[in-house]
This record gives sequence, structure tokens and C-alpha cells, in this order.
Amino acid sequence: MQSAKVIFVLSLTLAVAFANPRLPPGAPKPLDGEDLSKAKELLNTTLAQLATADGPNYQVLNVISASSQLVAGTLHKFEVELSNGSETKECTVKIWDRPWLHEKGEATNVKVQCKDDALVEKTW
Ligand SMILES: *[C@@H]1O[C@H](CO)[C@@H](O)[C@H](O)[C@H]1NC(C)=O
Ligand SMILES: *[C@@H]1O[C@H](CO)[C@@H](O)[C@H](O)[C@H]1NC(C)=O
Repeated sequence: MQSAKVIFVLSLTLAVAFANPRLPPGAPKPLDGEDLSKAKELLNTTLAQLATADGPNYQVLNVISASSQLVAGTLHKFEVELSNGSETKECTVKIWDRPWLHEKGEATNVKVQCKDDALVEKTW
């Protein structure tokens, strides 16, 4: 089971390396097209879960940039404008996805850093 996952991660790494010959494997990859749509969906569902997990309730107003990076899972990084219902904020959202930690309740780690606000971090 573990080796199947290693092979899966390796082949993903290779796929990324071949798709972007100029980027070394593991470097953040800017997202576009379908990857970008999927990443925005992930951002939406993650922020919705954050709100139900006693976190702040943020709505995405605008995605300025999005990238993903393979680092023991997938690290998605977004530069976004978020609304908390009363104010618009410029924020960096990092979503670290490690599906194999699902049973431990640690598959998703989210960090939201908005300008002039404290870091919000949750894991589930
Ligand atoms: C994410 O939510 C916003 C509103 O909160 C919506 O406008 C947008 O279409 C949603 N994006 C996706 C990819 O679901
Ligand atoms: C939105 O953020 C501002 C500034 O951090 C804060 O003063 C305000 O109470 C927040 N509003 C909500 C609805 O959380």
C-alpha cells in the first residue's frame, strides 16, 4: 500500500517535471485552465469548512494568483481578496493536502494570513 503511494507521488512528480521542463520538480507551479478551476473549488470548500470549524467566515472575492507545489502532499498557495462580511482583505491562503493522513484527521492544513491580521491556522 505504502509503496503504491510512493509510486503515485513519484509519477505525479515526473508528470509535473515533464509538463514544465523549465521548473525543477517540487517547485511551485502557477495554475491555469482546469487546474486553476479545481484549485478555486478547493479554496471555496476549504474556507467553508474553516467557517464551520469555528474559524472566520471568509468569502472569496478575487483570486489574484494560485500555485501548487508537491511537498509531502500538495501545497496550494493563493493570493486572494477575501471578505469577512464587513471588510475586504488581501490574504495569502495555503492549503496543504496530505490525503494519507485522513484517518488521523490531519489531511488538510489551512493557513490564512490576511494583511494586518493574526495568522489563522486549522488542521482537519
Ligand atoms: C467560490 O465562491 C464564490 C462566492 O463565494 C463564487 O463566486 C465562485 O464561483 C466559487 N468558485 C468555485 C470554483 O466554486
Ligand atoms: C472583519 O474584520 C475586521 C478587521 O479585522 C473586524 O474588525 C470585523 O469585526 C470583522 N467582521 C466580521 C463579521 O468578522
